Amino acid sequence: MPPVEIRPDIYWIGVNDRTTDLFEGMWPVAQEGVSYNAYLICDEKTTLVDLTKEFKTDEFLEQIHQVSDISQLDYVIVNHMEPDHSGILRTLRRIAPQITILGSAKTVPLLESFYGITDGIRVVEDGETLSLGRHTVQFVHTPFVHWPETMVTYETTEQILFACDAFGGYGALRGAIFDDECTDPDFYEREALRYYANIVAVFSRPVLQAIAKLADVPISVIAPSHGLIWRDKPEHIVELYRKWAGYATGPAEPGITMLYGSMYGNTEEMMNAVAQGVSQEGVPVSIFDVTRTHSSYILPSLWTQQGVLVGAPTYEGSLFPPMAQMLQMAAQKHIRNRKVAWFGSHGWSGGALRHLKRLLEPMKWDLTDSYEFAGGPTQEDLLTAQQFGARFARLIKSG
Ligand code: FEO
Repeated sequence: MPPVEIRPDIYWIGVNDRTTDLFEGMWPVAQEGVSYNAYLICDEKTTLVDLTKEFKTDEFLEQIHQVSDISQLDYVIVNHMEPDHSGILRTLRRIAPQITILGSAKTVPLLESFYGITDGIRVVEDGETLSLGRHTVQFVHTPFVHWPETMVTYETTEQILFACDAFGGYGALRGAIFDDECTDPDFYEREALRYYANIVAVFSRPVLQAIAKLADVPISVIAPSHGLIWRDKPEHIVELYRKWAGYATGPAEPGITMLYGSMYGNTEEMMNAVAQGVSQEGVPVSIFDVTRTHSSYILPSLWTQQGVLVGAPTYEGSLFPPMAQMLQMAAQKHIRNRKVAWFGSHGWSGGALRHLKRLLEPMKWDLTDSYEFAGGPTQEDLLTAQQFGARFARLIKSG
C-alpha cells in the first residue's frame, strides 16, 4: 500500500502481513493477517515513529522514499523494541547511518542485545518534549505495555498518539486504515480483543496505569502499530482496552465459556446436555473443543466471561491432557477469579477432578460443582447434566 497522509505532513507507512502463520511464533493469524504500522513525520527534522518486522523491507523503504529522502532522515523513535516494530532497524541504519535512535533508557541494552547497536542513540525521559520544526512530540513512558522499555509518543500539534502495541489488534488492513472508513468494525473489534487476550492481558495493570497517565491528554487520533487508526472515535478503543484490562481484577461478564474434550464422545454427549441446561436459563455460552481449537481463540472468551464449564474425562489418572494444557495457558495469561464447574467420564477409576483442583488452585478459580460418570452417560446422567448446567447458569446470572 502507498503511504497515507493522516494529518498534514504526517504519514502512515507500514505493511500488511498475510503470510506469517503464527504471530510471536504461536498465535494464529493466517486467516486474519496482521499489520505493522509505522509513521513518518516530515518536518525540519524528519522522523520515523516505529518500524516494522524484518519483512517486506523493500516495500517499507519504498513508502518512505515516496514522501522523503531516506538518506536525510533525522530520527527514528523506537517506542517498543519487540522485533515486529524494530526488525528492520539494522537495515535502516546501513541506509541512513546519520539517523538518531530515540528511546527510553531501557531501550539501550535491548538495542545492543537484539541488534548490536551501541551508538547513535539518544535516551528520552518521561514527559520530555522534542521540537521537530512545525511539530512537537512528547514521550510518555508506559512500561510493560508491552515490554519494560515501552513508551508512547504524543504529537502535540495534531494531537496524535502513536501508541505502538497499546490499542492495537490483529487483522491486516483491508485498504481502509481508519476506523471511519472501515466497513467491518466487528472484525477489528473481535481481533483487537483476541490480540489483547493473547498478548496484552498479562499487563492489564500497566495498561490501566497508562490510560490513567494519558487521561488529561487531548487525543484526536490514536495511531497504534497494529490494526486500525482511530480518528473518528479514538475514545472507543480506549474504552474497550479499559474494560478488558478491568477484567484482570474485577468481575467479568455474566456469560459462560464451555471447554470440552472427549475421546470417544461420552463427555461430548454430556456437554450437549449441560449446554441445554445453560441455554434454558438464557445465559450466553461459547463452546470450544479444546482438542481442535487453538488457545488463541479460546482466551478472549475466558478473559471476558465469568463462568467456565470444563468437560473432560480422566486420562491415565489425570485430567485429559489437552484440557490441562488449555487451563495452564489460562493460568499463564493470568485469568483469575472465575467460577467453574467440571463434568467428565472415567473408565475404571477417576483422577481428573483431583488433577483439576491442583491446576485451579493458583488461578483462584472457585470450583462450585462437579459431576462424574463412568463410561457412557445414561438417560439419568443426561437429565442430571441438564440440571447441572442450569444450576451453574443461575449461579453466573446471580453474579
Ligand atoms: Fe507488537 Fe510487543 O509488539
